[in-house]
Amino acid sequence: MLYIDIWLCNNGAVLEASLSNGDLKITTWEPGLMKFVLAFCFSLAMISAGAVQADAAAGQSAYAAKGCIGCHGAGGVSAVATNPTLKGQSADFVSKNLTDYRSGARQNPIMNAMAAGLSDADIKNIADYIGSLK
Ligand code: HEC
Repeated sequence: MLYIDIWLCNNGAVLEASLSNGDLKITTWEPGLMKFVLAFCFSLAMISAGAVQADAAAGQSAYAAKGCIGCHGAGGVSAVATNPTLKGQSADFVSKNLTDYRSGARQNPIMNAMAAGLSDADIKNIADYIGSLK
């Protein structure tokens, strides 16, 4: 027996789509039940917000452990003019440039070597960390 249940929480409208033994059933929940379901949706949103903070914390550790801090400085503020300051850059900028250094699309001998040792998760976490620096 196959049972798939999907909840769609969108701007106060709650739809449940369930697939049971090939029968698709769409249910719209009544306002009374909705309060409970919206509380559930809200707690899911809080869990994903918590995950973003965890990424930035993991990124801060990786930034130190992978040696980035040696050139780009504590808190992403570089003390050496030839090493760019990273604080102030967006997470998207950091993630794109690290991916490009790793693939070779952006060429720089130091950063190509540094990025080669980063996993996708390292890049995402470090990008979230740099993006969180204000
Ligand atoms: C040995 C010194 C050194 C280390 C270690 C180092 N970097 Fe760099 N980084 C540089 C230099 C120099 C550049 C400028 C390269 C260029 O012109 O493309 C740079 C550029 C960058 C850029 C692009 C910045 C911009 O403004 O375009 C990012 C992002 C970055 N580094 C992140 C990191 C991360 C993350 C680590 C750790 C995994 C790291 N770097 C380790 C020296 C270093």
